[in-house]
Amino acid sequence: MAPTRWLLLICLAGAAGGVLQARAQPDSNGFISIDCGLPGKTSYVEDTTKLPYTPDAGFTDTGTNHNISAEYLTPSTGRSWHNLRSFATGPRNCYTLLSLTSGLKYLVRAKFMYGNYDGLDRPPVFDLYVGVNLWTTVNITGPEGMVSTEVIIVVPDDFLHVCLVNTGAGTPFMSSLELRLLHRTLYPQATTTQGLVLSSRLNFGPTSENNVIR
Ligand SMILES: *[C@@H]1O[C@H](CO)[C@@H](O)[C@H](O)[C@H]1NC(C)=O
Ligand SMILES: *[C@@H]1O[C@H](CO)[C@@H](O)[C@H](O)[C@H]1NC(C)=O
Repeated sequence: MAPTRWLLLICLAGAAGGVLQARAQPDSNGFISIDCGLPGKTSYVEDTTKLPYTPDAGFTDTGTNHNISAEYLTPSTGRSWHNLRSFATGPRNCYTLLSLTSGLKYLVRAKFMYGNYDGLDRPPVFDLYVGVNLWTTVNITGPEGMVSTEVIIVVPDDFLHVCLVNTGAGTPFMSSLELRLLHRTLYPQATTTQGLVLSSRLNFGPTSENNVIR
């Protein structure tokens, strides 16, 4: 985990199209699991984690739903990868997570699989922000690649924006967005003035190839 300096600017990022509506909030664990681009209003329980995933309509007002191309679906492709939301319009589009607790520590994880959903065979590169801070540049290098990125932050407010910014290298999209409340003693390097961006996460000595640890 590489420490990254954060500017603690308590200001609302100028989301194109104004303040976004959101209607969902963390569960009793402090978890939110969003399946971006999932149509309808019905959640489902994800097989490997047994966590409920919810459609993203309550978290963003922009973008459109798409399925990845069937040729990139395999039996082991988890359901949250099957669809995505893409943001073809505007320089900056955001998800809003509400009902957080200011001053508490959260892990935010975003996942991306292009899967040639638009039939253009042009995987994009775009920027991802958490609040007003650049989180990472998402560089999708192929249709099959599953990109996952995490940040650990102490949130300054009771809400959090996660924003996708078009940098002129293709249409931003997202496959899933997850929020996990962390105990305040975990990752002491994450403070009100700096966050931690995931470099890599390794499981030493797993008992099977596909070990999922919650
Ligand atoms: C995505 O696939 C599901 C079923 O696999 C289908 O019901 C839905 O209409 C598809 N959505 C789009 C936008 O093609
Ligand atoms: C994205 O990754 C590819 C392959 O690693 C690299 O060639 C390209 O320069 C990267 N693009 C950006 C904008 O970082």
